[in-house]
Amino acid sequence: MKHTPLTPKFPQMLHGGDYNPEQWKDYPEILERDIELMKEAHINCVSLGIFSWADIEPEEDLFNLEWLDNTIERLWKAGIHVILATPSGARPHWLADKYQEVLRVAEDGTRNFFGGRENHCYTSPVYRERVKIIDELLAEHYANHPAVIAWHISNEFNGECHCELCKKAFREFLQDKYGSLEQLNHDWWAHFWSHTYTNWEQVQPPSSKGEDSIQGLVLDWKRFVTKQTIDFMKSEIETVKSANSEIPVTTNFMGMYFDGLDYFQMAKELDIIAWDSYPMWHAPWGNIAVAQCESLSHDMMRSLKKSPFLLMECTPSTTNWHSVSKQKRPGMHVLSIVNAVAHGADSSMYFQIRQSRGSAEKFHSAVISHAGTNNTRTFKEVTEVGELLQKLTHFVYGTDSPAEVAIVFDVQNKWAIDASKGPRNDGIDYFGEIQRVYHYFWKNGITTDIVDETADFSGYKLVIAPMLYMFRDDIQKKFREFVSAGGTLVTTVFSGVVNQNDLCFLGEDTEEKLSDVMGMWVEEIDGLYDGDKNRTSWYIDRTRLFYDMTQLCEVIRPTTCDVVATFEKDYYKGCPAITKNAFGEGFAWHVAGCAPEALFDELFRQLDEKLQLERAMDAEIPNGVSVTWRQSDDGRKIVFVQNFSDCDALIPLKASYTDMVTGNKFGEALPVEKQKFRILLENPPKNDE
Ligand code: GLA
Ligand code: ZN
Repeated sequence: MKHTPLTPKFPQMLHGGDYNPEQWKDYPEILERDIELMKEAHINCVSLGIFSWADIEPEEDLFNLEWLDNTIERLWKAGIHVILATPSGARPHWLADKYQEVLRVAEDGTRNFFGGRENHCYTSPVYRERVKIIDELLAEHYANHPAVIAWHISNEFNGECHCELCKKAFREFLQDKYGSLEQLNHDWWAHFWSHTYTNWEQVQPPSSKGEDSIQGLVLDWKRFVTKQTIDFMKSEIETVKSANSEIPVTTNFMGMYFDGLDYFQMAKELDIIAWDSYPMWHAPWGNIAVAQCESLSHDMMRSLKKSPFLLMECTPSTTNWHSVSKQKRPGMHVLSIVNAVAHGADSSMYFQIRQSRGSAEKFHSAVISHAGTNNTRTFKEVTEVGELLQKLTHFVYGTDSPAEVAIVFDVQNKWAIDASKGPRNDGIDYFGEIQRVYHYFWKNGITTDIVDETADFSGYKLVIAPMLYMFRDDIQKKFREFVSAGGTLVTTVFSGVVNQNDLCFLGEDTEEKLSDVMGMWVEEIDGLYDGDKNRTSWYIDRTRLFYDMTQLCEVIRPTTCDVVATFEKDYYKGCPAITKNAFGEGFAWHVAGCAPEALFDELFRQLDEKLQLERAMDAEIPNGVSVTWRQSDDGRKIVFVQNFSDCDALIPLKASYTDMVTGNKFGEALPVEKQKFRILLENPPKNDE
């Protein structure tokens, strides 16, 4: 086991999920039956108490832990562990009735009514105090209970509050950062439209009703929201840790496509990364695309701490909040869990164990449905996952996913792109660009880390920084060192335009823009209407390949770079579309337009040929089959082969493998039925070879 166990008190693959017994207090027979069914489904852990505040503290300072004591005792007797939540994600009526300030204020200045969840003011001293009181009680009572293996802090942190308390904290954050209004006016470029600040009180959060034209403000507000969320989360962590510092803490993230918070910063405060994954399997765009999208998010979650993570929630079958609640087809549930484990998950946890009888989540599937039996398709498939995880525990748990490739995905860069007016207000598809870059590696079983601009790049062979509009945290220096030391860097269109405050870099070929490393500088960025394109032509081995660039194209001024491909149309006909520059021991490439996946596939094929990137398997992988690997303790590859396509596949092999589920050995060809998987261990080479 390369990594220390996520949950040292119970170092095993976790199987379980959110359990909400407080909804079933009037049904004692159901609570009894739940535990029997959990055992049957090989559930070894539940997340408890996430939304239990009203049942733990029904009135201010009146506490009732009897039902929770009982629940934990009964679970523990059955050998089921507990990830205990702090209940701050949703509050009881009395709290909001008495202390209005805990309710959030919206961007237009109106205060919320009571309702919903994950919508409290993070600054409110009253909310922090009430949370501290209940967290302290839980921690004193349960932090040393043998069943409790981790803390689940709050639930899916998200959102922002525009109340006076938050505004005051925002102004303090800015004073701390800029020191003076002169500096702030400069760094936000506020001497613009006469918006110069002459007094700190004039600073308001961005609002469509007020100031939304200063992009430095938009960025700093989002940074403040992350800071304030972390501050709140840390106060909870301190409380629970003070009772027993050995119990690890986590909170449930929402994957890569949630861009409200900077998860790379939050990750530093947590012992375990955990996330809630709800892909739209069987959507009209097909499972192959869904699997790729999902794998990317798993990779980012693993990269946050370069360690295995917990899949904290996923649905056993349907998701009630998707546009359509489609059932997972037979086999899909186990396949989707294998995909999570393949990318670094050390658990399969569900929302939820017992399906709600009423309210908003009654149509969200659960391990135990309204039928209340073991005799449902979903229950059986969950049981199958439980059996599989038991088999995997001894050789997969805690193993590493070594990566030679990193893709830079930086949420602060996304904030900056989204806030920017121009060069294309009809959409600049940053997520799409990341996906198109990721495709080659996903398809070929090459592990990629997904890192932000604060990363250390020194251990990678290849770093790709798609559409990195905002250069921050001295990334130019890190890229310069990386390439000079022999690394290969690829940047794409709309990169290195602004600094961390969204101020454009000045000058022609400057180090700030990384022009020395790239061997060129960008003179113009052309926005293309939907449907517009500019063809590029690329000579490779005496054949000419054509690709259509869309959305954004750059007019490039080469200095020392080679021009690898050129644009074919318009006034920048003949100008570089792909450049390559030798710098120190390494190379820096640039793609000067929004390129299709096929262009990136070809570019990375060439780089891969040169760099000889480590693959899960040395084999031709059919379309729709994904191969991924983790490294077993003795250095061998544990290979996860997953067929997301609608055809059975046969993969010709160059090495021999043992199927860790069936025990079968494969040396020549590996059959993988559609919507099925194999988990293989590379066999050691024979002595006589
Ligand atoms: C989120 C929440 C859960 C539940 C699920 C339903 O992930 O954390 O409480 O509402 O969604 O999919
Ligand atoms: Zn507030």
